[in-house]
Formats: sequence, structure tokens, C-alpha cells
Amino acid sequence: MNSNAVFASAARIAAQVEKFGCRSAAILGSGWGAAASDAVPQFSIEYSDISEMGSPSVDGHAGRITVGLLDGSHILLFVGRRHLYEGVPQDAVAFPVAVCAELGVRSLLITNASGGIRADLQPGCLMAVTDHINLIQPPLLAGPHDPRWGARFPDMSKVYDAELLHLLHTAADAENIPLADGIYMAVPGPVFETPAEVNAFRAMGADVVGMSTAPEATLAHAAGIRVAAVSCITNAAACASGAIDHKEVLQRAADARPAMRQLLSAFWRGLVAAETT
Ligand code: HPA
Repeated sequence: MNSNAVFASAARIAAQVEKFGCRSAAILGSGWGAAASDAVPQFSIEYSDISEMGSPSVDGHAGRITVGLLDGSHILLFVGRRHLYEGVPQDAVAFPVAVCAELGVRSLLITNASGGIRADLQPGCLMAVTDHINLIQPPLLAGPHDPRWGARFPDMSKVYDAELLHLLHTAADAENIPLADGIYMAVPGPVFETPAEVNAFRAMGADVVGMSTAPEATLAHAAGIRVAAVSCITNAAACASGAIDHKEVLQRAADARPAMRQLLSAFWRGLVAAETT
């Protein structure tokens, strides 16, 4: 990653949005963009107008930064993400986190779609990420040390913040939305897994598998930002039950959208309340 270029570009965006005073941000992955629609847009810029980002090439990923207003609080939203499997430089994956760091954002929520490995994690379920196993290489932090990302050897013993996890569950309970906990296996993609890989991941302790989140979560945690992540299980990870198709992934995410939307809005309301008490 070219940290200087990423931070220089992030500072330009931060200058445009700092007046909103966002303390909270979200990176919304596959199918999650519309789930933040309770937050009314106050500002918008397309990724294609930001040289580090460019346009997402994946269906289900919009590609814009917005600032949404929800109950009097502003939330910085990255609607759609870039993945290394698109062939983009690491800078595009790091950029949203750099904007958060520049702005002094306190809490970052990351959402994604994943394939269920654990038997109870069926398509349509939502899962709060409690930890991850990151197979997406090379690490974004490889290269010269830049203290804006924290320590040279960042501690990763608690990437996902306990208070944010608690707020996610409080929100889910209040909205009557089942929310599981589990471990996210991050793979490089873009291929889905073989059944042998899924068996191996299960043995390694993974509950779901997806192609994102861990790089951004790692970076944000290293930079001192509190991180939470929620996954929508859109399919069973490769197994005897049949082939996986990206259209099915998007359809399942669309089916789960009302629950995602309720969960996000209740979470943000709870977060604001927790921060003001
Ligand atoms: N594997 C990897 N990534 C995914 C999957 C999957 O089964 N479903 C949605 N994203």
C-alpha cells in the first residue's frame, strides 16, 4: 500500500465531510447498500471521482461515499467496497479506513455477504463477527511502517469491539431479529471454495467464509478505531447441495434486506445513545 497517497487523498475527502462531525462510519458490502436507507443522504460523492477508488466492478456494490442523517446524527457511509480480486491496488481497500482515521471516526461497522459453514448458519441468517481468520494476502500493512496506522506490530487479540458487539445484540433483540455470533474466514476469491476447502475451514474453526472484511477490520483496529462486523449468510458454502451463483447471493441478500435495515438503524440509535450517556 502507498500510505502517503492514500492519506493524501483521504484528507481531501475528509475536508469535504468534516463539517458533519461523523463519529460513526460503515462500509456496506454485497447487497447491504439499501439497508442504510433510513439514514437520509446529506452529501454524496462517487468512488469513480476518487482516484484511489475507481468504480466497483461487482454487481451488488454501488460505489459512493455518502453522509446519512439518522435521528440527528451523521454517519459516514461507504456504499459498496473494492476487493483485491478486482485487480485494484491495496490502496482502494485501505482508502475508506484512511478517511475514517483522518476524520477521527470512533466506530466502524463493516458488512458483508458470506457462505455458511456452521450447520445453523443457513441462507438468510445474520451473524455478528466475533473474530476472523485472514487468508487474504499480502497484508495491507506490509511495507514501510506508517504510524498513522498504529504500531508496527499491531495487537489483534480483540479486533471486534465488545461494546459494539453488545450493541448489535441489543439492537437485534429489540427488533426481534435473530443474530448469531461466529468466526469469519476471509479468502482472496474471486472463486468460491471447493468442498475440501470448506471442510478444512470448518476444522480450522471458521463458521462462515467470505472475500472481504478482514483486511479493513485489521487496518481500522490497528489505527485505533472500534470495529464491528455483520455478515448476511447468502448460501451454504460449497457442499454437495449444489453450485453457488452470485445472482443467488444477491437475491438472498435482497430477501434479508428488511432485517438488515432494522438491525442497522437500531444499532446506530443505540450507539448514539451509548455515546451521549
Ligand atoms: N464464499 C465466499 N464468499 C462468499 C460466499 C461464499 O460461499 N457467499 C457470499 N460471499
